[in-house]
Amino acid sequence: MSNSEKEIINVKTGRSHYEIIIGRNIIDNAFEEVLHDYKDYTIVIITDSNVQRIYENNIIQKLNNKEGVYILSFKAGEESKNRKTKEFLEDRLFELGLGRDTLIIALGGGVTGDLAGFIAATYMRGVPFIQIPTTLLSQVDSSIGGKVGIDHPTGKNLLGAFYPPNKVYIDIDFLKTLPNEEIINGIAEIIKAAIIQDSELFRYLESNIDRVINLEKGYIEKAIISSLKVKAKVVESDEKESGLRKILNFGHTIGHSIEVLSNFELSHGRAVGIGMAVETIIAQKIGILKNEEKERIFRILNKSKLLDKPFKGSADEIIKKTSLDKKSRKGIAEYSLIKGIGFAVYGIKVEEEIVRDSLVEMGFL
Ligand SMILES: NC(=O)c1ccc[n+]([C@@H]2O[C@H](COP(=O)([O-])OP(=O)(O)OC[C@H]3O[C@@H](n4cnc5c(N)ncnc54)[C@H](O)[C@@H]3O)[C@@H](O)[C@H]2O)c1
Ligand SMILES: [Zn+2]
Repeated sequence: MSNSEKEIINVKTGRSHYEIIIGRNIIDNAFEEVLHDYKDYTIVIITDSNVQRIYENNIIQKLNNKEGVYILSFKAGEESKNRKTKEFLEDRLFELGLGRDTLIIALGGGVTGDLAGFIAATYMRGVPFIQIPTTLLSQVDSSIGGKVGIDHPTGKNLLGAFYPPNKVYIDIDFLKTLPNEEIINGIAEIIKAAIIQDSELFRYLESNIDRVINLEKGYIEKAIISSLKVKAKVVESDEKESGLRKILNFGHTIGHSIEVLSNFELSHGRAVGIGMAVETIIAQKIGILKNEEKERIFRILNKSKLLDKPFKGSADEIIKKTSLDKKSRKGIAEYSLIKGIGFAVYGIKVEEEIVRDSLVEMGFL
């Protein structure tokens, strides 16, 4: 993909059809297109305080001066993904007197996308919604697939909806301002996509993961586009997660437990990185994954520094947490595992002893 080129991925599910446009420096064109496509609409851009600050002088100011365009922002961070912020933003929409002819745009990371998308899903029973993801994690994962929602003190993402976007614009240049730790956070989901469905991408990452992490031209594009294709394909065949979509949870059963037990000090990506390592050991222990493939997975997780920040929890507390996960059935955690690189399977019940042994092998005693 050269400078001015754009790649388009179509996502077609039973209920929805939308385009994902990917390129560099496409943001100005994207807004022009949106202003044209939604010329009879009031446009509300929801963003967080960091993105607002960083992009104040170029993107935000230009838009703020346009008639019928409003920018609403909230304090950056997962702590804002709650009912209070949702209520605050909804109150603003009513104060502005906005009706059903409102387009909501999420400009930011996964927190912004999930929150703005949930508001779009329920405001006036649903208004059009566009995603402009600005973090690597949101560009490869959260901005597509239609899951939107907020957290509740009981747990993450417990209030939400399936509300697919009308369009997604992915401008890779946003990643230039992203802190390195946030890149690592997104890399985990790229590696996950490769492991579950794309052995060719996995081989590519084996040779080029450093270049991808350094956001080198061509390499980051390839990684983002391939991961998006994996997610798009999975979502197309099972939008509401009654079956195949569960494979996207590889690494997440253990990963979520660790993320919560660390009080979110470990990023989602790092927690999922450790989760993928443990679940890879589980797959090998139950005899569905060859040892040499396990070693390849460990090599790439180590190379991308996902296992660098150790989490000191006990195997028992991690196991206990998995049974409380919203995706567990009747208190029994189900795993999405792999029987080879590129071949995921889902709905696997694993004996607790094997989970414990696998956690112990990773150093959780
Ligand atoms: N809906 C889904 O399918 C889905 C999938 C995965 C994750 N998620 C959700 O996504 C959220 C995590 O997303 P995230 O990691 O993007 O978090 P985030 O939105 O909090 O962004 C991470 C940080 O980066 C900052 N930031 C954003 N864009 C930037 C840029 N271009 N330059 C500099 N800083 C920038 C943000 O202000 C924030 O501080 C979680 O709430 C998770 O539950 C949803
Ligand atoms: Zn994830």
